[in-house]
Amino acid sequence: NVTARLLLGENCGSADEWHRNTLTTKQTGWTKGSPLASVPKHIEHFSKFSPSPLSMKQFLDFGSINACEKTSFVFLRQELPVRLSNIMKEINLLPDKLLTTPSVQIVQSWYIQSLMEILEFLDKNPDDHKVLGEFVDALVTIRNRHNDVVPTMAQGIIEYKEVFPQDPVTNQNIQYFLDRFYMSRISIRMLINQHTLIFDGATNPVHPNTIGSIDPQCQVTEVVQGKYGRWNCVTFFFSSSHVGNKKSQPISIVYVPSHLYHMLFELFKNAMRATIECHENSNNLPPIQVMVSLGGEDMSIKVSDKGGGVPFRRIENLFSYMYSTAPAPQIGDHTRTPLAGFGYGLPISRLYAKYFQGDLQLYSMEGYGTDAVIYLKALSTDSIERLPVYNKTALKNYKMSQEADDWCVPSKEPLDLANFKMGK
Ligand SMILES: Nc1ncnc2c1ncn2[C@@H]1O[C@H](COP(=O)(O)OP(=O)(O)OP(=O)(O)O)[C@@H](O)[C@H]1O
Ligand SMILES: *[C@@H]1O[C@H](CO)[C@@H](O)[C@H](O)[C@H]1NC(C)=O
Ligand SMILES: [Mg+2]
Repeated sequence: NVTARLLLGENCGSADEWHRNTLTTKQTGWTKGSPLASVPKHIEHFSKFSPSPLSMKQFLDFGSINACEKTSFVFLRQELPVRLSNIMKEINLLPDKLLTTPSVQIVQSWYIQSLMEILEFLDKNPDDHKVLGEFVDALVTIRNRHNDVVPTMAQGIIEYKEVFPQDPVTNQNIQYFLDRFYMSRISIRMLINQHTLIFDGATNPVHPNTIGSIDPQCQVTEVVQGKYGRWNCVTFFFSSSHVGNKKSQPISIVYVPSHLYHMLFELFKNAMRATIECHENSNNLPPIQVMVSLGGEDMSIKVSDKGGGVPFRRIENLFSYMYSTAPAPQIGDHTRTPLAGFGYGLPISRLYAKYFQGDLQLYSMEGYGTDAVIYLKALSTDSIERLPVYNKTALKNYKMSQEADDWCVPSKEPLDLANFKMGK
């Protein structure tokens, strides 16, 4: 029984603790009095639980054999506050000057509002159909409220960068935070999407076999070829698409097609830009090649361009939220691709890959081109959510200070060998 394990498993604290905490919440009567005043107490309470990572198999079971709206409701009204509170504790650890920017304040208020709205359901009856319907509506409202979290947060970083000089420790902390914050957001949206898609009563007409947003037979090569979403101009770039161990054999894994699409979209965009900028004066653009390979453990996708590459020294910075040099884009301009121009293409894509225990890496040869490789788990049993947890370890990571270097600094002046000459 999936739910029993999820609620009482080791990640969730002991059964006893869970009961005790549930009782205290009820006794303190959080619905009465000023709701906002009690927010810190709820965050404190729910952040004591570790989030429960779900496996692909659990997601599928939740949506097929055991599709039970009540079970999902009871799980989510606990798990969503846990995930929200864990990350809200970390927002508070951001440098004051960043935390107090208007943009970060807005984001924080969305999180508080959404937490409160879910908590409303804690003492509601799961057997009441009306309650279940209201819960779906509440989740949809929450999902919409958080649509612009990434650009708004990015705006906060820009505001901060404009006023304060960057220092390596702060940069490192912000990078650490944003990776965890955006990962948490991906996971929360995944939970919300699964519940709302599965229990809104309609089957997805475009993809009748999907379970929520998961395709149990996600045809990787089809997503690569743009059959899932609109690629516009990518297709004419394709030269070839090698497939797996045997050529032309379709490769499928259990995956979220929209996540795969997002990563490929970003990689293609980068590869195309590099190719065009590198061959400005040429009539023939070298093709972007894609290789898809399925092994026993990994499903890997390599996107190769001949766009001139990136110096090795810069590779790590390409994944940095702070070093991104992109000019500030317009928030709320939905006519463009989401997030275009923030310089978040690579870091966010890497998070999508890591979310189900994969990764994304760049291998570049400056002067020639770049290979970007997405690694995903081939087996659905290995695809388990990777979630941040707020505890002492996380807290310690924010307190890390820059250690003094223990490697020599090369001298700028040529060594004066005269000093070593033996006196006559
Ligand atoms: N295939 C590539 N070849 C050469 N440079 C690349 C390649 N991919 C990424 N880069 C470099 O890495 C930088 C960061 O890439 P990233 O996708 O994260 O942001 P962006 O493309 O600048 O903006 P966004 O993707 O948000 O629109 C790019 O600006 C580019 O300089
Ligand atoms: C924090 O949580 C992680 C994952 O559950 C665990 O491995 C780590 O030991 C915890 N740290 C502390 C100090 O409890
Ligand atoms: Mg990009």
